[in-house]
Amino acid sequence: MSHRPFAYTLLAATALVAPVHAQTADPDARAAALVGRMTVDEKLSLLHGPMPLPFFGETPMPEGTIPGAGFIPGIARLGVPPLKETDASLGVSWVGGIREDGATALPSGLALAATFDPHLAYQGGAMVGAETRAKGFNVLLAGGVNLVRDPRNGRNFEYLGEDPLLAGTLAGESIRGIQSNRIISTIKHFAFNGNETGRNFHSTNIGEAAGRESDLLAFQLAIERGRPGAVMCAYNRVNDVYACENPALLNDVLKRDWGYKGWVMSDWGAVHSTEALLNGLDQQSGEQLDREPYFGRLLSEAVSGGDARYGARVDDAARRIVRSMISTGLFDDPPQAGGAIDFDAHAQIARRVAERGVVLLKNERDLLPLARTARNIVVIGDQADVGVLSGGGSSQVAGPEGPAATVRVGGENAMGPFSNALYHASSPLAAIKSEAPDATVRFATGRYVSEAVDLAKKADLAIVFVGQWTTEAVDVPDLSLPGNQDALIDAVARANPNTIVVLQTGGPVVMPWLDRVPAVLEAWYSGAKGGEAIADILFGDINPSGRLPVTFPASVDQLPRPKIPGVDLPPTGLVAMGAPRPSFPVDYTIEGSDIGYRWFEARGERPLFPFGFGLSYTDFTYSDLKVEGGDTLTVSFKVANTGDRTGVDVPQVYLSESPDRSQQRLIGFEPVTLTPGESRTVSLIADRRLLANWDVQRAQWSIRAGDYKVFVGGDAGSPILNGQARVRGARLMP
Ligand code: BGC
Repeated sequence: MSHRPFAYTLLAATALVAPVHAQTADPDARAAALVGRMTVDEKLSLLHGPMPLPFFGETPMPEGTIPGAGFIPGIARLGVPPLKETDASLGVSWVGGIREDGATALPSGLALAATFDPHLAYQGGAMVGAETRAKGFNVLLAGGVNLVRDPRNGRNFEYLGEDPLLAGTLAGESIRGIQSNRIISTIKHFAFNGNETGRNFHSTNIGEAAGRESDLLAFQLAIERGRPGAVMCAYNRVNDVYACENPALLNDVLKRDWGYKGWVMSDWGAVHSTEALLNGLDQQSGEQLDREPYFGRLLSEAVSGGDARYGARVDDAARRIVRSMISTGLFDDPPQAGGAIDFDAHAQIARRVAERGVVLLKNERDLLPLARTARNIVVIGDQADVGVLSGGGSSQVAGPEGPAATVRVGGENAMGPFSNALYHASSPLAAIKSEAPDATVRFATGRYVSEAVDLAKKADLAIVFVGQWTTEAVDVPDLSLPGNQDALIDAVARANPNTIVVLQTGGPVVMPWLDRVPAVLEAWYSGAKGGEAIADILFGDINPSGRLPVTFPASVDQLPRPKIPGVDLPPTGLVAMGAPRPSFPVDYTIEGSDIGYRWFEARGERPLFPFGFGLSYTDFTYSDLKVEGGDTLTVSFKVANTGDRTGVDVPQVYLSESPDRSQQRLIGFEPVTLTPGESRTVSLIADRRLLANWDVQRAQWSIRAGDYKVFVGGDAGSPILNGQARVRGARLMP
């Protein structure tokens, strides 16, 4: 697709609204000058807008809207374009097919995180951003970076795992990629939105230090790298105060301590008062979902009521919104709908992410890669004849031809009426057939175990696809595969010793059949070309390189909260999103900042598979560790490919002990591609905040002087090289 060159459009725009643009290219000054020329009503008009979808009956949509997630009218008189907002990180969302224009689906966030590759995150973001722009949208509601505190969270597939460094780095790069299209990306959901159960009214409670060292650190790292134009605050309460009117989060942490210059938009149905403006919220999104027009008529009344605090904040909020429009480039070069999209080229980006993100969890007897000599293969289950599974909710994408299959899920929960599992048109069965043209490849749906077992008995190999559909608004009740799939795998594995399981899950699952199954791939939701990517890995065209971005527990009993808080409460309706309900606590003080692998390490628990884990068809060794101290740690070591295939390894460096306590933290990682016999020295410098603790009294990071121990390993549970160095004490600004 082509865009008008920036220099040209800047000139053109300058000619249109010369007095403002001529002043300076500095977004602060330009935004201030623009807001200075706005009437109060114009400023107020920027602070709220509807969800432009035909679900809300009589509300006529303002001119210029595109059916999507959000719309904020522009100010034509001053050349301020309207904000046209669409979801989300994994592609331009499908919104139930209302626009009838599909988009390229990236694999899930966890698949991307499993690549541990910032460069791929950037490329994926740039691709989705280009489609966003081509469809005429200028805000992508992307950047989901909530840490996985509960493997049953229905939205884990949108996020980037359990570690702040990994999630923050990849979210930042994805946002940078999106905004390279001169559009705005959000980062969301700020903050501590770690479960969907009761998300509109539960309170996630956490101490200041634990918060700064975990979820907030992920946001901080991502904001520094990606500079998103907007932050979307979350539905939930944090320490009993709604996240979208939480001054500690919005005014103190985000705007004061981090110096954030963009704006805070609400999540849809997450506003509960007009005072939210004073507490740091700048814009009410999807306003039909809230109970009142808090930032519409009510804010207008508050401003004309004469409370000067409202007037000043309206100026500030309008300035922040316009500033982000200017700093990202959309002000000077607004997208036009109808841009060309090269779907084939974009699908290749989705395919690359899938190929790199699939995790090989088990491979006994080197069953994989599959021998091309196999004569009889049976493929079983999970709609593998038509496509690959995707996750549900606002982030749902469907390809240009629409979904390949739609399976109704339903349920009493808020999303019940919209709960359909969609499959992307990328058939693993077809891809397997084309990899093994001389084999007889049969397919069984998996609905009848006896049928699958019968075919498995007659085959050389059985490849069982299983799916765990997850969606926004609903957590999964446990970590099992739904339906009869665990029993199906078990029966097939008993019938055929060469059984390979391909998991298509939103996040971790338990595997009661693991001992009986020689090979397991975690394919996540693998996106537009998932079927081809999975087949490439099964047959060895691609050497698997994914590493788990999230710990796979052996059972829910190992979790900080074995029972999901609020799970026994009656279900809520979708339209009642903004309605007040009694809150209930989700106690994050249990694990604090020790999320995932840190929790398992601190408790001495053994997971099913550790964070960072993933096998390859080749072997890697590590040697020559050097750890230098000083202001931070510089860790270098040699990685060698000692096997006989080219492969990508992801060596990881963990802090294992600091002067005052033993604790595990990922402080560096790097994907390295090596040919057989090749070796490379990797050198990583730790971000000092990863060595520090948050000092609540002084409101600063504090590094204690002393010896810091580290290890290099292929996952969080297996130290291979150990070292240490002395680090100077320091205090760092927030
Ligand atoms: C989700 C957001 C999404 C918004 C707009 C909300 O329900 O939590 O992530 O961006 O809807 O669709």
